[in-house]
Amino acid sequence: MPILTVTTIPFADQKPGTSGLRKKVSTFQQPHYLENFIQSIFDSLTGYQGQTLVVGGDGRYYNQQAIQIILKMAAANGFGRVLVGQQGILSTPAVSCVIRKNQAIGGIILSASHNPGGPQADFGVKYNTGNGGPAPEPVTEAIFARSQKIRQYRILNAGDVRLDRLGTTQLAGMEVEVIDPVADYLALMESLFDFDRIHQLLAGGYFRLKVDAMHAVTGPYAQTIFEHTLGAPAGTVIRGIPLEDFGGGHPDPNLVYARELVGHLFGDDAPDFGAASDGDGDRNLILGPHFFVTPSDSLAVLTANAHLVPGYKSGLVGVARSMPTSQAVDRVAARLGIACYETPTGWKFFGNLLDAGKATLCGEESFGTGSNHLREKDGLWAVLFWLNLLAVRQQPVSQIVKEHWQRYGRHYYSRHDYEGVDSDRANALIQRLREQIPSLRGKHFHPYQVEYSDDFSYSDPVDGSVSQNQGIRLGFTDGSRIVFRLSGTGTQGATLRVYLERYEPNIARHNLDSQKALADLIAIAEEVAQIRSLTQRNQPTVII
Ligand code: G1P
Ligand code: ZN
Repeated sequence: MPILTVTTIPFADQKPGTSGLRKKVSTFQQPHYLENFIQSIFDSLTGYQGQTLVVGGDGRYYNQQAIQIILKMAAANGFGRVLVGQQGILSTPAVSCVIRKNQAIGGIILSASHNPGGPQADFGVKYNTGNGGPAPEPVTEAIFARSQKIRQYRILNAGDVRLDRLGTTQLAGMEVEVIDPVADYLALMESLFDFDRIHQLLAGGYFRLKVDAMHAVTGPYAQTIFEHTLGAPAGTVIRGIPLEDFGGGHPDPNLVYARELVGHLFGDDAPDFGAASDGDGDRNLILGPHFFVTPSDSLAVLTANAHLVPGYKSGLVGVARSMPTSQAVDRVAARLGIACYETPTGWKFFGNLLDAGKATLCGEESFGTGSNHLREKDGLWAVLFWLNLLAVRQQPVSQIVKEHWQRYGRHYYSRHDYEGVDSDRANALIQRLREQIPSLRGKHFHPYQVEYSDDFSYSDPVDGSVSQNQGIRLGFTDGSRIVFRLSGTGTQGATLRVYLERYEPNIARHNLDSQKALADLIAIAEEVAQIRSLTQRNQPTVII
């Protein structure tokens, strides 16, 4: 089969964001666009000849075509073996698991995570390194730098590889092994959680679970794990079949987009536990009957209860959270006497801490939780962790969380997103805030006083690398905070995220509505940032 060397010119916009390169499908479908980026990834690696690469995606539109291109390019570039999920399916956590298990040099994940799919919607490419985690910034920068100089790429002139049958085939001297997307991941979950105990809970007939796979990648994983392995009845998993456009939905597991599940959990005759995951399976939403567990609280509760779960009963070395995530977990870490790291937004910043054995559990307010079992956040892992806790503690979700607040105090938390804002306006708003930083210190905003204000900068304690301009923080003397940052994952205009947090130690004030509890901080955010006039929006598009 002939190897073609194709002449090309760079695309200026191939800079990876918070989580890989994310663009409209039509952008990726331009001649040479995907090929340029894939060749730039390969060119920035050393010693990949003969090595193993893992490839899979969340099943969205263009997944299959992209995989065929990548297989032909991997063969033309001299990889030894590619492990690819059957039908091109692999969740993000499963890719991380398969890379680690097979000592692959890395993996390519085709996903735009929670962004909608379909011909008019989004597509994405993420590169994960040999530790199974998202490429850290020096790697993504090298890929981008290469993409700006690229002049040619290599691709095999061959027919498509069948992805519907398990097994190995040859592609011009490279092995292509089509693997079961679920098997390795399931084995890893069985090694961490008490499957017998969870089985007793789910098969006993008195505890009811509902899992919304949102027609995205977790469908086959959730069905195998909950219905076929853990004894939950058929129908436990809703929207379980992966579809190229996610059934027209927005596969983001939050109170806005997981409307059907929220309807079940907040309706009459609610199940005991509800969960959802996103497009590529790394996010999680945790619900009890008439009760929503914020991701920040979830991280804190898992940390406080980790000793009840087999995989974590010997203790945690430390925890890590992204900067905008609430400080609820900090209190648990302090009581456990373990370190708590504060990193910029994006899972890639946890990789070094996990590799260096400095953290066991990690989490982000954006519905991401995970541990050192992988180097990605992991939606179904979080669901299994909760089910293990529920099986041991035999209490409702709400009671577990409320007891946690009684012990540690409650961190009221919310994020207000302004999506699709004009980029110039959004940048001007952030720039204006940056200029205000020095003058905000010590300022009174009734009933709060600013203790510190800065633009968050992170020094990685493992490799010393510094990441600047990671979000404007306003910290108040009582521990409350407001954080402003722009999203790095959108594909249209800019998204302003405003993160609000208030600490409430008084048990008598633990049952307020979050938006009411945060009303003063919401008003301060508006006063300081002039959001309405500068974005020309009267209200957020999404409140979570
Ligand atoms: C968002 C989340 C961030 C998460 C990322 C990828 O990034 O805020 O926590 O790691 O998606 O799932 P953002 O759009 O804010 O840059
Ligand atoms: Zn995701």
